[in-house]
Amino acid sequence: MRSIRFENVTKLFHGETVVENINLTIPSGKFFALLGPSGSGKTTLLRLIAGFEQPDSGRIFLGNHNITNVPINERRVNTVFQNYALFPHLNVFDNVAYGLQIKKIDKATIQKRVIAILKVVRLEKHMYRSITRLSGGQQQRVALARAIINEPDVLLLDEPLAALDLKLREHMLIELIELQSSLQTTFVYVTHDQFEALTVADTMAIMNADGEIEQIGTPKEIYEFPESSFVAKFVGTTNILTGTLVLFDNVYKIELPDLGTFEISVTASKPWVRPSLKVFMSLRPEKIEISKSKHEGFSNMLKGKVEAIVYHGRSTQYDVRLKNGMRIRVFEQNEEHFPQEVIDYDDYVFLYWQKENVVLLNR
Ligand SMILES: Nc1ncnc2c1ncn2[C@@H]1O[C@H](COP(=O)(O)OP(=O)(O)OP(=O)(O)O)[C@@H](O)[C@H]1O
Ligand SMILES: [Mg+2]
Repeated sequence: MRSIRFENVTKLFHGETVVENINLTIPSGKFFALLGPSGSGKTTLLRLIAGFEQPDSGRIFLGNHNITNVPINERRVNTVFQNYALFPHLNVFDNVAYGLQIKKIDKATIQKRVIAILKVVRLEKHMYRSITRLSGGQQQRVALARAIINEPDVLLLDEPLAALDLKLREHMLIELIELQSSLQTTFVYVTHDQFEALTVADTMAIMNADGEIEQIGTPKEIYEFPESSFVAKFVGTTNILTGTLVLFDNVYKIELPDLGTFEISVTASKPWVRPSLKVFMSLRPEKIEISKSKHEGFSNMLKGKVEAIVYHGRSTQYDVRLKNGMRIRVFEQNEEHFPQEVIDYDDYVFLYWQKENVVLLNR
């Protein structure tokens, strides 16, 4: 088993830093996702792993082996590109067999291995079909089959589903998860789509627009415990409120301008917490309760006016204007056919939340 390790890797193009001092370990045999906005350097990181680019400083390891200057064809790494790059004049079988044919492997072995791989991606029935007569999802599977037939240690996937419609994308995500767990190959999956990353990843890294890694963690850690407002906003939807930390009787609270003072739960993982510090608090829309009536026993409550209602099927979104002018988004699950209470535009509502659902951020 061999992990990929970036050690202080920096890459410049024409004097401009594109990826900045990357320190990252991609665990062996797992599904790893790299998520970031367009231009953040995701493809560049993949190209560094594949050997299409060399870093300007730093080193890249595969296991204990320094591969920084190892040529492309000597790395056991394969890539699935966004546009698949299939040979349009060859049929399915020959597209997949190509990598073995150029290695001059004997015909019978090639036949056996191609058929085995086509079974994995469920294309054995279309073996002799022309590439041009396949659907987008089928072409994607051919690209996958071609990339895994050489049994690479690492499979790099650069936005592999971008050309597919939503239903097919969701379907292919599940297939990729199954494929990865049956092959136990290290998958590095690049996307700017947070839903895709959260769905497939065992571990994920978030890159910012400056080509730096903001946070690494499991999808749940990233979503529930973002470390910066960038991550909180980029992964999912959230409300970011700016406030000041205050210490009352040895208990930290947050003071929000014009809104009051609210409870927070400060954990040991936030050593930077100190009185008078300006901070951000992230409060996910689904963690807020909305009601027209005032409930007793909640210490965290805000009042506002409903400005927009969007029905999403399984949930309803309410945008609520607070008295300080800020807008708060709330998602309410549509659990019941006949809700207790109908909330309309222009209604005055109360918003409630538990202090445990507030995530404090210092950047
Ligand atoms: N060969 C190159 N020459 C010059 N600049 C480049 C080159 N490749 C990438 N860049 C620049 O490096 C930055 C990062 O590019 P990269 O393709 O890695 O981003 P990305 O995160 O994959 O974006 P996207 O989500 O749009 O694919 C961009 O500003 C891009 O213009
Ligand atoms: Mg890219």
